[in-house]
Amino acid sequence: MKLSVAENIATLVPYPPGKPLEELEREYGVTGSIKMASNENALGPSPKAVAAIAAALPNLHRYPDGSCHYLATRLSAHLKVDPSQLVFGNGSNEVIELLIKAFVAPGDEVVTSHPTFLVYATMVQAHGGVNRVVPLANLRHDLDGIRAAVTPRTRLIFLDNPNNPTGTVFNRAEFAAFLAQLPETVLVVLDEAYVDFVADGLRLDAREFLGGATPVVTLRTFSKAYGLAGLRVGYGIMDQEIAGYLHRVRQPFNVNTLAQVAARAALDDTAFYAETLRMTRAGMAWLIPRLSELGCTCYHSQTNFFLVEVGLDCRQVYEAMLRKGVIIRPMSAYGFPTFIRITVGTAEENQRLLTSLAATLRELAHD
Ligand SMILES: Cc1ncc(COP(=O)(O)O)c(C=O)c1O
Repeated sequence: MKLSVAENIATLVPYPPGKPLEELEREYGVTGSIKMASNENALGPSPKAVAAIAAALPNLHRYPDGSCHYLATRLSAHLKVDPSQLVFGNGSNEVIELLIKAFVAPGDEVVTSHPTFLVYATMVQAHGGVNRVVPLANLRHDLDGIRAAVTPRTRLIFLDNPNNPTGTVFNRAEFAAFLAQLPETVLVVLDEAYVDFVADGLRLDAREFLGGATPVVTLRTFSKAYGLAGLRVGYGIMDQEIAGYLHRVRQPFNVNTLAQVAARAALDDTAFYAETLRMTRAGMAWLIPRLSELGCTCYHSQTNFFLVEVGLDCRQVYEAMLRKGVIIRPMSAYGFPTFIRITVGTAEENQRLLTSLAATLRELAHD
């Protein structure tokens, strides 16, 4: 090919998505397989959301509401913010990209941790920005190190709280002290994709930091606790002025019609939401001691997933689990070659995971 591709694009590493169930079953000839790899909601989608989707199907010949008016109105009442402070995206992934498009010019710097959600650094590089990467300290964001990495060219800081893949959180006082030391020219993006799962006493309410001297944007999603990952809908909460910049760079119909109606309905499905949290917490409390008895080290997490140190090459464990029809996440791409990440499933899925991992560890020990 004679096409020339910019260096920042040619050197990008594509995001490694979790293997889809259909592909696993085709490749390995297994059936009834389960996926515990992508931090999805094992309960399925909210039934109220499914009903709302069915009701909206006859209108699919129309373009979506580009302003997400009804969703914004419903959500703003839920969050007690003004609708003008909300910007929706095709998953919170898109809001991450909108922030980079709006605020990062080629050569500008963005500070992220490592490991963290891989999409931040990929998008920064794709848009010609420069990543300044600060390693986690004891599996937690190193807020002092991040502060020290800020330069006059820094435009954004991405902080996922809880962090993916470790599930650790920082608290309100730590965040307030961190913000107080930052220049007012830096925008802090607090990604709260897993905030619903955080224990009450550990939750920091990012909304209280909106409108402060250092600008803050909070990201949330309907993909996790609300069970709508396949529809792609997430949002940011921010000052109106920042929202205005994001609207300038977004596509006019970036959130599809079904996603909008389903997200609205999911907010009303309080029984589904409560059951999601109950199942997740009970599943984690059941799995951790049992996996520890197998000789694994489990890391407690404020999310719907947790890290497990298996003491073996995680890709071998991943392959052996695939043959048993169980998809987990090997952590090599995140720099943890002997760790796997497990998303909590239903009680039956958790049991199957335990049995399969026990068999896998026995097999690999004899190799
Ligand atoms: C920390 C973090 N942020 C954002 C996302 C993206 O979520 P969405 O499905 O809303 O794009 C994920 C998804 O796994 C995540 O782990």
